[in-house]
Amino acid sequence: MKTMISMGLRYEDRRMQLLDQTLLPNQEHWLEIETLEQMDEAIKSLRTRGAPLIGVAAAVFLGRALTLGLSVDEFVQQAAVLRESRPTAVNLMNAIDSLTAMAKQGASPEQLIEKVEQLFDEDVDLCKRMGANGAALVEQGDGILTHCNTGGLATVGIGTALGVIQTAHEQGKNIHVYVDETRPLLQGGRLTTYELEKLGVPYTLICDNMAARLMRDGKIQKAFVGSDRIALNGDFANKTGTYSVAVACKVHSIPFYPVAPVTTVDFDCETGDEIPIEERVDFEVKGVKGAFGEVMWAPENAQVYNPAFDVTPADLVSGWVFDTAVLSKQDIESGAIAKLKSE
Ligand code: MRU
Repeated sequence: MKTMISMGLRYEDRRMQLLDQTLLPNQEHWLEIETLEQMDEAIKSLRTRGAPLIGVAAAVFLGRALTLGLSVDEFVQQAAVLRESRPTAVNLMNAIDSLTAMAKQGASPEQLIEKVEQLFDEDVDLCKRMGANGAALVEQGDGILTHCNTGGLATVGIGTALGVIQTAHEQGKNIHVYVDETRPLLQGGRLTTYELEKLGVPYTLICDNMAARLMRDGKIQKAFVGSDRIALNGDFANKTGTYSVAVACKVHSIPFYPVAPVTTVDFDCETGDEIPIEERVDFEVKGVKGAFGEVMWAPENAQVYNPAFDVTPADLVSGWVFDTAVLSKQDIESGAIAKLKSE
């Protein structure tokens, strides 16, 4: 299999490594991934994360296993295990299902490996296209709010919402980014800040509950967020707190855009009500841990609710930035998302 390198994934000479994102930004530690158990654990514990990246990383792991002699039957079994590692981001299921369908139709290991390489290259390309489509919506001097982490650590390319931000910055649009810290796991505070520092994009980190006030103060002109699964009617799941951003944007008449590749569409899902939402352990809300240490501030027995994602209804969305185009509400109502399958 060819060499594939991104900000959070490295594959070269049958060696696969993942950047442990739970330790960022304090430590850049690369994990060796050799076994199914290691790959499964890395996804479940968010050492590797972000909807497109987990799909591609699982595929690269399986491709590597084929190069080491895994049979096609064993490939299908291991793919089924990884498919269950996280429930909301559909890119994982879409990548695994396309590989499994090929395997079941008699594809050779070489053909499956070629498909894995294609999935990697496709994500790089989709990110560039989303970046260009979304950046066309950005005006000189815009303040842009973003939530969670959607850049090179969440994809193998320049990212989804962060790809738009990077592209607009490179076009000289003089933007300023407001980064929601994104409780509970702080993907904004730890990861988006890390990426923006590397890109040299001016930003301000805020707590999630400060965004509405900044909107009222006129600091934010647009919001761009990623997505983990998009339904055919335009509802979409993204990191918990995205719905609150959309509501606040609506109240302040600020355009709100999800940015996603076609690999984030669930063509079997009619509305957001059908999207499975991952619930995670209570510790994530009662405290925090990372390379900086571990602290728990809530009583040990505090009852906790910790859905990792929420669903934003289509009526709060101003436009859907895809790799092919920016779709309007009218496009969505006339079934434009379903048509992406054949494009
Ligand atoms: O739980 P995570 O960190 O994997 O969640 C990631 C997000 O919600 C991103 O915004 C999403 O993957 C889509 S953009 C690449």
